[in-house]
Amino acid sequence: MAKGKVDALLGIVFGDEGKGKVVDCFTPKYDIVARFAGGPNAGHTIIFEGKKFVLRSIPSGIFDEGKVNIIGNGCVIAPDLFMAEAKELEVAGYDLKSRLHISKRAHLILPTHRVLDRAYEAAKGKNKVGTTGKGIGPTYSEKAARTSLRVGDILENFSEKYAALKSRHEQILKDLHYTDYDITEEERLWLEGVEYMKSFPLTDTEIELHKALKAGKSVLAEGAQGTMLDIDHGTYPFVSSSSTCSGGVCTGLGVAPNAIGEIFGIFKAYSTRVGSGPFPVELFDETGDKIREIGNEYGAVTGRNRRCGWVDLVALKYAIALNGVTQLIMMKSDVLDTFDTIKACVAYKKDGVVTEDMPYDTEGWEAVYEELPGWKTDLTGLTSPDQFPKAFQNYIDYLEKALETPITIVSVGPDRAQTISRA
Ligand code: GDP
Ligand code: IMO
Ligand code: MG
Repeated sequence: MAKGKVDALLGIVFGDEGKGKVVDCFTPKYDIVARFAGGPNAGHTIIFEGKKFVLRSIPSGIFDEGKVNIIGNGCVIAPDLFMAEAKELEVAGYDLKSRLHISKRAHLILPTHRVLDRAYEAAKGKNKVGTTGKGIGPTYSEKAARTSLRVGDILENFSEKYAALKSRHEQILKDLHYTDYDITEEERLWLEGVEYMKSFPLTDTEIELHKALKAGKSVLAEGAQGTMLDIDHGTYPFVSSSSTCSGGVCTGLGVAPNAIGEIFGIFKAYSTRVGSGPFPVELFDETGDKIREIGNEYGAVTGRNRRCGWVDLVALKYAIALNGVTQLIMMKSDVLDTFDTIKACVAYKKDGVVTEDMPYDTEGWEAVYEELPGWKTDLTGLTSPDQFPKAFQNYIDYLEKALETPITIVSVGPDRAQTISRA
């Protein structure tokens, strides 16, 4: 953490790496925590003192009462879901209204965007993306098409603007012959959510950040999703619709590249993916089932089974280069505690071609593995690196050498306390 800089914590694979947990752990060191991309497709889990929260749009720095949290311009926000999320935190005793600032430039997810999300998925037949159904793709599409509504729009003549956009959506849905939906109740809550949002500071968050950085304050940018779900660099078209990489921190918060400090790249000791799309390391056997079972790999947003496999060095190397990762954070190491052997994917192969570089089309590639001995030790109670079993230390050394980047934090359980610094 350096004064006057923005550090970023980014999921560098397919999301759900444990970003929420680590942002919560890091928050005491920073003045401001800011989300720069995505919306309620995210599900960030935080567990401490016997309490568990799953955040979607609200940054994971919110549990540190003195800190300002920002929902940046690169985010999309659904007022009804935001209201439900914020009220849950208020009921739990957290005061949000003065210290959760929302960018006027963030875009609004309408109820009809969610219907459009379902309609577009239905029209894709076998090629469904497997979206979270939160209206993400339709909202970012309209942002790019310059037809969307922003948070700042709720402050003036909103009913007219809302009615016009909703009616445009209804026409598109009619053209798609997707008319069997009813948003009456959803819309009522959504409009209530719009009013509720007005009780929060709706600000020019980029200017706020410029002033804070100039005054020497430190900022932690919290990623959502992961590099392989990035609209440009992920496994397109099986991706989300935002810029999840370090470049997205600059556009999604309005901060300059030279304001960026450390880039923390967070990954699991194995791999998971939720939704459709290529996943060369996917295990369809009992090993995959065992990882899912022990790792509790079921989506925090949709409850879907996460697809599981061994760690993927091809994807990790690509993500480290794309993001400029300066430090790695390895999560969920404890999930591999009982395995005799651990594997790591070092290359992909297809039709006699072997590559260590991320191919344009990851469809149809098979993983090439190296094997390492498992540590067969319960890691969950460990508190310091000098307690690491030899085979676990060996796995860390192996990954650091292959990835040419230090692993400075290792997580051995879901609780805030189960986090070990190696720095
Ligand atoms: P995020 O989207 O990146 O914030 O991650 P999620 O919250 O969607 O998924 C991570 C899941 O793993 C959550 O259920 C966490 O409680 C859990 N978790 C985080 N770190 C660890 C860990 O080190 N070990 C175990 N067993 N679970 C962890
Ligand atoms: P966090 O921040 C894992 C996946 C969806 C789908 C694809 C597109 O919790 O890590 P979308 O609804 O964004 O249009 O879906 O992206 N996806 C995620 N997978 N973690 C996430 O967020 C995700 N957000 C979206 O499953 O495959
Ligand atoms: Mg998640």
